[in-house]
Amino acid sequence: MDQADRLRTLAGFSESSRKTRIISITSGKGGVGKSNIAANMATLYSAKGLKVLLIDADMGLANANLLMGCRVDKTLDDVMFGDAKLQDTFVRTPGGFDLLPSSSGVRKMLELDAFAQRTLMDRLQEIIHEYDIVIYDTAPGIGSMVLNFNASAHDIVVVAHAEPTALADAYALIKVMALERKEKKFRLLINRAQSAQDGLESFKRLTDVSAEFLNISIDFLGSLPEDPCVLKAVRQQRATVQLSPRSPFALALVRIADKLLACSHAPKDQNKSLATVSLRGAS
Ligand SMILES: Nc1ncnc2c1ncn2[C@@H]1O[C@H](COP(=O)(O)OP(=O)(O)OP(=O)(O)O)[C@@H](O)[C@H]1O
Ligand SMILES: [Mg+2]
Repeated sequence: MDQADRLRTLAGFSESSRKTRIISITSGKGGVGKSNIAANMATLYSAKGLKVLLIDADMGLANANLLMGCRVDKTLDDVMFGDAKLQDTFVRTPGGFDLLPSSSGVRKMLELDAFAQRTLMDRLQEIIHEYDIVIYDTAPGIGSMVLNFNASAHDIVVVAHAEPTALADAYALIKVMALERKEKKFRLLINRAQSAQDGLESFKRLTDVSAEFLNISIDFLGSLPEDPCVLKAVRQQRATVQLSPRSPFALALVRIADKLLACSHAPKDQNKSLATVSLRGAS
């Protein structure tokens, strides 16, 4: 039993939380498309009849609500520093999923200490089991909150562009997750790829360097093309998969979302729990 498994056993996990699939959309470098991918994926899974919660885990600089054109009254900020209940903040989006919004421009949300992070994770633990799928839209980088969210997910989907800087930052994130959180499995998604070949070559570059230093596996989820329909949808504050369902981005994301759903049920994955992170976050 490795350290991560011991923590999971110590923390305990309920039957109900096992059925929830937690997907973290994350990246080393900023601006690579996480929020668009997360919101569109949430829309696609909702359209399949799944109950989906998108958590805006980019705390302090949140924008998932803007992407979906949703007015927000309360945010995680009000839960952490006010008397709002988590459920009071939920917004039903036009994408058919619930959004747990965060605040934007609130520095203290970026600087939560270990105790506050643990409190947050404990509260999230209480509500996620109501959903089939929970998607995190994380902040970029290797901050402790990003690592905590990623560590609590069944699927860590690392998004990168097919360029050296984004790939180097993706590798840095994977390395830190592997060394500090003992994570062994990652999924790579190349966004704004010039071609399928472009994405595949980036994947090979990343796996070559990762295999050399770390005992981990990286699955290639696929590539999303550069597509002007994404910006068009952002400007209209709608999901690309709803506004332009036949666009290259939407069609590619449908394939990727289906692929991700189909490869979910590794036994280790089912033991993942936010409670794991509660312990880690406090250490
Ligand atoms: N496949 C794509 N084709 C064209 N434009 C895209 C594509 N994906 C994302 N974009 C554009 O890239 C920009 C950044 O996207 P997004 O905000 O989703 O990135 P992010 O990774 O969430 O950023 P941050 O790290 O700041 O949270 C947006 O302007 C978006 O419209
Ligand atoms: Mg974002």
